[in-house]
Amino acid sequence: GKVGVLFGGRSAERDVSIMSGSGVLAALQSQGIDAHAFDPGQRSLAELAAENFDRVFIALHGRFGEDGSLQGALELLGIPYTGSGVMASSVGMDKITTKILWLAEHLPTPKYAVLNANSDLDKVAASLGLPLIVKPPHEGSTIGITKVEQAADFKAAYDIAAALDDSVLAEEFVTGREFTVAVLGTGVNARALPIVEIVAPQGNYDYQNKYFTDDTQYFCPAVLDAALTAEMQRIAVQAYRSLGCEGWGRVDVLLRVADNKPFLLEVNTSPGMTSHSLVPMAARAEGISYEQLCVEILRSARL
Ligand code: DAL
Ligand code: MG
Repeated sequence: GKVGVLFGGRSAERDVSIMSGSGVLAALQSQGIDAHAFDPGQRSLAELAAENFDRVFIALHGRFGEDGSLQGALELLGIPYTGSGVMASSVGMDKITTKILWLAEHLPTPKYAVLNANSDLDKVAASLGLPLIVKPPHEGSTIGITKVEQAADFKAAYDIAAALDDSVLAEEFVTGREFTVAVLGTGVNARALPIVEIVAPQGNYDYQNKYFTDDTQYFCPAVLDAALTAEMQRIAVQAYRSLGCEGWGRVDVLLRVADNKPFLLEVNTSPGMTSHSLVPMAARAEGISYEQLCVEILRSARL
């Protein structure tokens, strides 16, 4: 049947989505699939309905694509789609709600505070310690994230995040190695792919170092002993399942250097599929090509 690859969109990650979706579209077409591009950032839901897609591959990132709103529209239109459903998508798009659910399951995640315009930043800095990380809770690709080294810089960091979001997340800084764990499948069939370690210049895995420079180094499978590998894969799958994620996703994890304790940062329910992206890298380490990965994700599409 006719397949729609949804990419572009209206979020701050539009450009990333165009890179992801172009890759997915070409890969599906190369496998003989009748796949077509559709940009919900430029065309209406009525136009989407009129395309009569048998299923769609969601290669959108951020708001109105990864956050459950589009998933809800597709449910109403009766079009099967890849990835998580409405609830897991919207929870996964909110780093604060994600943490609350993980903490309820006793999964490790850095200490945090939720900030608003009335928050006493000095008090927050005293309780979380410095440095700390300030994030807009509903963005991706490190957009709007600042590492605050000194209390005097906290307000400026808050303002950057507050310009993008209604609430702001402040998080304890964990000195650690940076990893990501791709997960494929749903429920009891969810499984982790080989772990990727990310070593960015000056530890700064920002937008530029994610997508444009070739200065970031990736190690896959990550160099970790077997027990730690199994432990990180286990908590990543548990973190994914605890939100009810489906199909595919990617869980970002820090490993504290002091004691090798893993801390969960977030789950991405519509992860990057660009040439620099990590789910394709993890799949390749298991012998799954980019094309095979796209076909496998597409097959898992459901309503
Ligand atoms: N938010 C980006 C696309 C990712 O997690 O890969
Ligand atoms: Mg993210």
